[in-house]
Amino acid sequence: MINLASIRSHEIFSTVAVGFLAYKVWRLQPQRETAQTILKGIVNTLTNKSRYYYGHSKRVMLISKCICDALDINGRDRENILDAAYLHDIGKIRVDLALLDKPDKLTETEWETMRKHPLVGYDILKDFGIHADVLAMVLYHHENFDGTGYPLQLNGGNIPLGARIIRVADAIDAMGSDRAYRKALPFDVINEELRKCVDTQFDPDIVAKATNGLNKRIRLILAQGRV
Ligand SMILES: [Fe+2]
Ligand SMILES: [Fe+2]
Repeated sequence: MINLASIRSHEIFSTVAVGFLAYKVWRLQPQRETAQTILKGIVNTLTNKSRYYYGHSKRVMLISKCICDALDINGRDRENILDAAYLHDIGKIRVDLALLDKPDKLTETEWETMRKHPLVGYDILKDFGIHADVLAMVLYHHENFDGTGYPLQLNGGNIPLGARIIRVADAIDAMGSDRAYRKALPFDVINEELRKCVDTQFDPDIVAKATNGLNKRIRLILAQGRV
């Protein structure tokens, strides 16, 4: 169970993500009143949201939706992937906003903190009756196709398909958005970076679908985020 007292306002990154979580818990928990009370407490604690992370969750979900369309993923699998895409960075609640927005290179200790967020997210969500497939996608969304990611260094087909999709969508949005240390990259540079990292970071089939067939839709999603 989350200790509400330990959640400080400056650690909070997304009111929308937690509001979404509240909805899912309301839908899934048999004791709805209890769940709502808990989640109201969480939402009320979220007084200092980060606009960047709000947009990030939604865009990663929308880009994942484009990839699901290209791969013809439908039904419950699709719903789970989109839920996980929306919630993938929930574990960053426990990372200082100052660290998330740090304009300089992170120290090794800071990286260690950042690398914990998939596990923290999994730990938060598992207490709320979230579907096991969604939990796995949140846990593995930073695994690399060649086994060099984190937290468990899974590789290839051992990484759930949804996590591989979110990995690509997450990278597209990260490159396509302003950061504290750089401006958003141009679309052709993003495409080039994706191609360079095929087989290492990303599933080649997903990159082919994302970069070759969906440019217009994904560019539109990124462009709307820049307004
Ligand atoms: Fe992440
Ligand atoms: Fe992310």
